[in-house]
Amino acid sequence: MMHSTVPAFILGALMAVSFAASAVELTISCGAVGQERALCEQATAAWAKQTGHKVTVTIPSDRTNERYFQYLVDLGAGDSRTDIYQIDVIWPRLLAKHFVDLKPYIPPEEIQRHFPSIVTNNTVDGRLVGMPWFTDAGMLYYRKDLLEKYGLPVPQDWSELADTALYIQLQERKASGSGDLWGYVFQGAPYEGLSCNALEWIASYGGGTVIGADGAITLDNPLVVMALARAASWIGTVAPPRVLSFNEEDARQTFQLGNAVFMRNWIYAWALVNGQGSPVAGKVGVAPLPRGGMKGMSASTLGGWQLAVSKYSKNPAVAAELVRYLTGEAVQKQRALIGSYAPTLMQLYDDPELAATQPIFSSLRPILDNAVARPATRTGDSYMAVTTHFWEVVHAVLGGRGSAITNLSGLQEQLRLLKTRGNW
Ligand code: GLC
Repeated sequence: MMHSTVPAFILGALMAVSFAASAVELTISCGAVGQERALCEQATAAWAKQTGHKVTVTIPSDRTNERYFQYLVDLGAGDSRTDIYQIDVIWPRLLAKHFVDLKPYIPPEEIQRHFPSIVTNNTVDGRLVGMPWFTDAGMLYYRKDLLEKYGLPVPQDWSELADTALYIQLQERKASGSGDLWGYVFQGAPYEGLSCNALEWIASYGGGTVIGADGAITLDNPLVVMALARAASWIGTVAPPRVLSFNEEDARQTFQLGNAVFMRNWIYAWALVNGQGSPVAGKVGVAPLPRGGMKGMSASTLGGWQLAVSKYSKNPAVAAELVRYLTGEAVQKQRALIGSYAPTLMQLYDDPELAATQPIFSSLRPILDNAVARPATRTGDSYMAVTTHFWEVVHAVLGGRGSAITNLSGLQEQLRLLKTRGNW
């Protein structure tokens, strides 16, 4: 028997020949948004070819909260059919007990090449339960050509955004006689994406992050009311009423068809809106999200995804090898070049080929470094309940079902009960 302290990655190298001799079948649950499926299939097929193993890619719901509950059911039942799960930045703590510690499988110097804050986020009670795959932040996409046409600057705060959006929307509609163009689209459906957008509005006004670092609920604050009331005023004026059912891809498709002046979306949208066949290719600029008023700041919600190996996998060592490959430099670079998925490997931000192909990466570092985390760590097991109440209430305010003040005081009470029950 091998000595148990020999790290698995050394054993892996020693045993490469015998691995190939005993090919295994792995299943990975990848992402479903934008080009995630195609890129995951490509990279896993390349690895399978190299190693002789077989990989099946499954695609879950494109709404992260639905995906979470799907995973929770499978993992809770000890399901061994899926070996590798792509997990959201808000989940490591929630799902940690179902995943293996990846440290014995991946050399420490490889782990250290990723953003330390993400490695820390993925380390639960000393166990590395997910390898960083790509990071994410909310960005403002704008139509460069339309701003130029009307001689208007990129908006710096939300009022300026609404004014600019409305002006261009009205002018363009008058000129074309069509009502298709809207000023601003974002993720307004009742799901995790809306929690991310709303956190940005609130944090940009200096209204906190729903739950403070000390666990206190920070909604009883006029700046929160202001941020939500302001967002509600967009619906039906600069934002189409159907934005209340938009997820990432709905917003992206509307913008890509040329039907919106501004869009809030994640980084992946950059490659698609500028991709071959996109009607707006070459006409799009990207900037930090607007500040909340003159005293506010720009706030981007931190997103991103990791790869985790299930404890119920029949082949955790081979699965960890695949995770090591997928999160390694070659695959991360390829995904960034083709799909503008933001690498978690720091050195790729100095890569000249990447900077030349996807200029968005040159302006990303400060945005990623300052991105606002959702209160997932602080609320522990209660996070999904917290975010569900939050997006429901924000959705009600946007939809005109009650005022921001009344809805927020109801939310404050719901969260207070959760806090008592969840003991955070
Ligand atoms: C993006 C982000 C993820 C977030 C989700 C919300 O996929 O990377 O962190 O939870 O959007 O819709």
